[in-house]
This record gives sequence, structure tokens and C-alpha cells, in this order.
Amino acid sequence: MFLEDDEKRMLDGDYGPGVQKAMELLFALGKAFDAERLIPVSRTHVALSGQEGDTYWCTLLADGGAKCKIAPTTNPAWDVNALSKRFEVTEAELDLAVRTIDAYRRIGAVLSFCCTPELESNVPVFGEHVAFSESSATPYVNSVLGARTNRESSVSALASAVIGKTPLYGLHLSENRVGQFMVLVEAEMKDPYDWGILGWYIGRFAGYRIPVIRFVNMKQRPAPEDLLYMGAEMNTSGAVPMYHIEDVTPEALMQKHLTAGKALDVELVIGDRELKDQQEELFEKIGPINLVMLGCPHYTYAQIREVERLMSGRHVKKGVDFWILTSFYTLELTTRSGERSRLKDLGVELVADTCIDEPCWKSFEGGLGMTDSPKCAYYRKRRGQPFVVRRLHDCIEAAVEKGGR
Ligand code: F3S
Repeated sequence: MFLEDDEKRMLDGDYGPGVQKAMELLFALGKAFDAERLIPVSRTHVALSGQEGDTYWCTLLADGGAKCKIAPTTNPAWDVNALSKRFEVTEAELDLAVRTIDAYRRIGAVLSFCCTPELESNVPVFGEHVAFSESSATPYVNSVLGARTNRESSVSALASAVIGKTPLYGLHLSENRVGQFMVLVEAEMKDPYDWGILGWYIGRFAGYRIPVIRFVNMKQRPAPEDLLYMGAEMNTSGAVPMYHIEDVTPEALMQKHLTAGKALDVELVIGDRELKDQQEELFEKIGPINLVMLGCPHYTYAQIREVERLMSGRHVKKGVDFWILTSFYTLELTTRSGERSRLKDLGVELVADTCIDEPCWKSFEGGLGMTDSPKCAYYRKRRGQPFVVRRLHDCIEAAVEKGGR
């Protein structure tokens, strides 16, 4: 892989061991994928997880004197101030969270601790080359915004943030952004939940490939939350970094141009029956729940308002905790606008900076949880708590006192 003189000096350690390590990683990645050179990136996002591997890498670079050239926004770990007072966490778990925050602050990251940067805090424009990690963010960035990122890991995204560059391969090249097979969707999509189930179904089939999706019965155009949910699930059940939707996503037209109008094979037809089967396969059987958890990916302001509407003034019943995970910005907005305190009065708590996959939630293990997100259920189950996946309306109905208080 060709390196400019300055890049060679970084690799030789002239800029210190932190920069050297970051460059070693990008150089190795570029060689592995036959990249001809590095290209500048104008935005980065690091999916820090508050787990030892990521924190080790960030600490290694920061201790070696590295500072981010393109300051990355960061994924959530957990709100140590609020949640360590509410739930049991060990000294070691608290220490890891504190070390993570410290390492990312020292390296010059933007401590946004939110997994939907592409909606509010770090929004690329069409054609921009960026390095984003986070499985819900990368499909949105590529498909909906038309910016260009590979499906980065937290490690490679942080290396790009330090160097300000990424190897030129994969989805940075137009020819690799072309759809590879066609999906016909006959089912009707009602809310983000339906889009999430659809994404899960397509992701299982697609693996790494880029689908082109044609909706036969599209009654209304998808909202950002719909597309966010579909991409997040596609990139969890599969590893789909990009999709096209005919007449919706910006590169669907380019797709036609690049394939010279050649029709793709329809490999998947999805009707209501297929989605119902998929839901049944994903579902744990409903039983007494101890937790409703929403916000994987982080809930938007519109989604929080929808929760308040569906609660209709009813209170969460005894023995059930109800948590909504959201961004720092949205939390602030709900504080100013009043939703936060009104929901708290009903037993619904909002928290920022926090992911569902963190040790602070272990107090609920042993019970059954409920969520509208297959991704949430997938990760929580790995931690030892089964989750029922249902649409938002059903999650709320399961959580509230019947008849109100
Ligand atoms: Fe966000 Fe964590 Fe879910 S980063 S998308 S809440 S797994």
C-alpha cells in the first residue's frame, strides 16, 4: 500500500508510539484489503463498549501520546453517576467504566455516549468519507445519508480518528456500493417495530451482501426511526453495512445507473406470513416481566413522546421497572419540555449515556424482560436475561396497571 512521506514517518514512530500504533493498524488493515492508499476522513464515531478490549486500545494510544485529529463521537457505556446509586455494580465494573471515560477524554474524543450520532450529533452529508463503527449507525450512514464508511470496529475507527485517514477499500469505492440481490416486500410496515423485524429477516438471509429492497405496498414513506431500526437489525442478524430502497434511499438511483438498468435476481419475497413467522421465532413466551427496556438504538424525542401518548396517564405496575435509554441531547430536551418528569411520575425512567449491554442492568437477570428491539433481546440474552420482543404498544400494555391509579 502506498504511503505518503508523512504517513511513513508516523509508521516509523516519529510522532510517538500512540500515533505509530494507530498507523500500524490502518496499514495492516489496508494491506489485508488491498487498499492502494489512505484517504482523509472528515468524521469518525467510535463504538466504545466499556469493555476491557476497547478500553485497552484507547489507553494504549493515549498513553503513547496520541490525540485525535478528527475527534470522534462515542457510543454509550453507562451513566456511572446515576446508575451506580440505583443498581448493584462491583468495584471492578465501576473502575472499568471510569477508566474508559478517562481514556477517551485524554485522547480528545467527544464524550457524547450515544449510539445514534448520525441523527443529531455527528451527521455526515452525501458522499462524505467517514469512519464509523456501531452496527446501527453504519447502515444508516451509508444507505440513508449516502456518506461512505466501512463497517468499522471501535479499534479501527479510533485509529482513523487519530490519523485522520482510512484505507481506501470497500464502501469508500462506488463499485462496491452496488446492490447484489433484490428483496420484494409485500408486507405492510406500520411502525419501527415492523421495520426492525423486517431488517432481522433480511439480515439473516443477506449475510454480508447489499440488498436492494422494493416495497410493493408502501403506504407511507419511512421515518428516520424506521430506517434506523431496519439497519440496526440487519446488521445484527447479518453483517449488512448498506442497503438500497427503491425510490427512498439516495443511491438507489445510482444503483440503476451502475447496473445499466440490469435487473437483479429477486432472491427473497417477504409478506405478512414471513414476518409473523420471524416474530414467533424471535419471541420468548410472554410471562410475568420485571423490566421493560426501550432505546436500543437510543430512543429519539419523537419515540419518547409516543411512549407518553401510549401510557395515557397510567402508572407502571409494582414489580416492573421501565427504562428508556436515550442520548444526552434528547434527555435534555425532554427535561426542558416536561416529558421526563411526567413520565417519571408514571414510573417510566429516562437515562442517557447508557447501553443495554452493560453490567449495571444485571440486577434484573433471573427475570423476564420486554423490549421492542430484537437487538436488545439478542444482547441481553447473552448476558443471561431472556427478553420478550413486542411492538411498543404491547410493551406498554404489559407494564401498566390496568385501570390506572
Ligand atoms: Fe445502542 Fe447498545 Fe443497543 S450501543 S444500539 S443501546 S446495543
